Amino acid sequence: MIWRFNFGILTDMKKTILSGSTVTGDLTLGNYIGAINNWAKLQDEYECFYFLADLHALTVYQDPAILRERTYSFFAQYLALGLDPKKNVIFVQSHVPEHTQLMWILTCLTPMGYLNRMTQFKEKSEKHVKNINAGLFTYPVLMAADILLYQADMVPVGEDQRQHLELCRDIVGFFDNKYSEGILKMPDAYIGKMGARIMSLQDPTKKMSKSDENDKNFVSIIDDAKKIEKKIKSAATDSGTEIKFDAENKAGLSNLMTIYSVLSGKSIQQIEQDFVGKMYGHLKVDLAELTVQTLSPVKAKYDDLMKNKDYLDQLMKSGADRAQVRAAVTLDKVYKAVGLHR
Ligand code: TYM
Repeated sequence: MIWRFNFGILTDMKKTILSGSTVTGDLTLGNYIGAINNWAKLQDEYECFYFLADLHALTVYQDPAILRERTYSFFAQYLALGLDPKKNVIFVQSHVPEHTQLMWILTCLTPMGYLNRMTQFKEKSEKHVKNINAGLFTYPVLMAADILLYQADMVPVGEDQRQHLELCRDIVGFFDNKYSEGILKMPDAYIGKMGARIMSLQDPTKKMSKSDENDKNFVSIIDDAKKIEKKIKSAATDSGTEIKFDAENKAGLSNLMTIYSVLSGKSIQQIEQDFVGKMYGHLKVDLAELTVQTLSPVKAKYDDLMKNKDYLDQLMKSGADRAQVRAAVTLDKVYKAVGLHR
């Protein structure tokens, strides 16, 4: 918390947090553990902006009707996971046009070579060989605009977004050098110590992803109890027996232990002690139960929220209105700084 002297009055200024998730698939345990669980913890202490990145989703073709419905679904998933719309500004990216407006200015400052280095661009263009569009390439610039519009101090994300955050910081440097300093705030990434990279259940060498075609690879936060149990019990593990954390040689087991640790609040050492002399199967049974216990109230709340789209519409509208107030101030300053008539 920072104290600042403002017009002669001592005011309590909260730092700003911003983060979001792309509207594809359904949120997974990876998104929950790596990001949203941390978002929910920050909501009391900081001024938080959490958004649904629907424009980012368009870099891969989306069926329009499904995208429209999924936007409701994601909004409801955010709320069900404990994000309080009174404490946080929760909104949909495309409802605040300043995101794409700022993006254009930043695109004109970002060297192609920097974008060429982005590993996510390389991975996605390998996966979508028939649709390597310019949006996929400039995706990280839109991300930078998302962050910089709100003057975010901290951006809580999983490990896979670290490179994009670094690029965002580079872009602030480009802007400062070419125009003026102090208009865009330099953000810091906030990456949790545990669970910043939850791995796929069937192939623990790759990250758990909500857009994975094989749904056995992830637990969705709105999966029912039966599905969760089945997916966790059939997770790939090595042929050993001892329950010992070893990310290199026992990647599958270690991934399950990480999930267990975050959901239970127990340390890895404590888990190793609890399971001395027990088999992998015991850990899977306990983890399945713990995951069901964590996610069943989320699913119940989600089902309820999805029955009331008018309520979701209202919240989306008020979230966007609140977000736009902050976004418009930054965009105005940026437009003036680069010489556009206002
Ligand atoms: P997305 O939708 O892929 O993921 C949302 C958040 O979840 C984290 N995450 C994970 N953490 C741990 N283990 C995993 N397996 C895992 N999978 C995903 C991500 O790191 C992320 O924090 N480009 C972003 C969305 C975005 C954004 C932004 C984020 C758009 N603009 C501005 C922050 C700030 C994305 O696609 O996240």
